[in-house]
Amino acid sequence: MVLPPPVYDPPFRITRASHVVLEVSDLDASQSFYADVLGLILTSRDETTLFFRGIEEACHHSLVLRRSDRQPACARIGMRVLSEQDLDRAEVFFSQDHCPTAWVEVPHQGRTLHITDPVGVPLELCAQMTAVPRMITEFQLHKGGCAQRIDHCQILTPEVRRARDFYMSAGFRLSEYIASADDEVLLGVFLQRKGNPHDIVFFDGAGPRLHHFAYFTPQVHHLLLACDMAGALGFGREVERGPGRHGPGHAMYVYFRDPDGHRVELFNTHYQVMDMENQAVRWDPTDHKLSFPWGLPAQRKWFEEATSFLGVEPRPSTRQSNPLTLEKFLTS
Ligand SMILES: [Fe+2]
Repeated sequence: MVLPPPVYDPPFRITRASHVVLEVSDLDASQSFYADVLGLILTSRDETTLFFRGIEEACHHSLVLRRSDRQPACARIGMRVLSEQDLDRAEVFFSQDHCPTAWVEVPHQGRTLHITDPVGVPLELCAQMTAVPRMITEFQLHKGGCAQRIDHCQILTPEVRRARDFYMSAGFRLSEYIASADDEVLLGVFLQRKGNPHDIVFFDGAGPRLHHFAYFTPQVHHLLLACDMAGALGFGREVERGPGRHGPGHAMYVYFRDPDGHRVELFNTHYQVMDMENQAVRWDPTDHKLSFPWGLPAQRKWFEEATSFLGVEPRPSTRQSNPLTLEKFLTS
């Protein structure tokens, strides 16, 4: 496969995946799940909104939960840029690609730019947030999964190739991808700005929809602590997949569904990928031994269910999906 070349001097500088804004139905249930099971720190709460951050994060929020009576949805994927000038350059860059942009006021964030990317994902860029203390050595406050920092989001889209090409033109590096050698099939792309395997991931599927967002946790045993806490607090059936080991990315993981069905991953063991000679790793979509080292595969719903973006109608994929599901595995 001929890949687009990396852009080492991007038109503007995104630094990392930064935050996710979700709509939820019950703030108390969401607070219990994210604070006690994942172990996020509640920065602030008002009548309509919860603001959470990971235990090492010195910014006001990496997860915003807004109460709503609508169908639970994802309002925005947040990314940080390095400087205020990068925001202005981002507006020019996205506008040139005919992506809608708007300047908005967002609590606890500096100047904020709303954008819809070329495959329909609603993004939110800012350079600054209200600073708050890191809780990484406040051990008395650590709970459950000890979620340390937000790491990435995974999006389903019928336009994986278009997403790859656009984000690479914006300076994202391709770390890994799932594709046939003849370039006929492109199932997934892992794109990064911060020097580990991914900030944003696109997989083939009806979309755009948010498949999951993910927090890094310091130790493997924190995955088990999160599961135990989920069981103890009545969220045991919401442990959807794992703990297990990914092929692509190599992470140890566990996936949960929150009280509104939004999917969140807790993981650790990533690696650095930033030097010029680092080549993107291709995974063969037909080789389950490589992409699935041990354990049980995910249920079909893990592959198919996802959170819609607010006001965005998903479009079907033209590709017939045929993943190795748990249901298929148990009857084979
Ligand atoms: Fe993930």
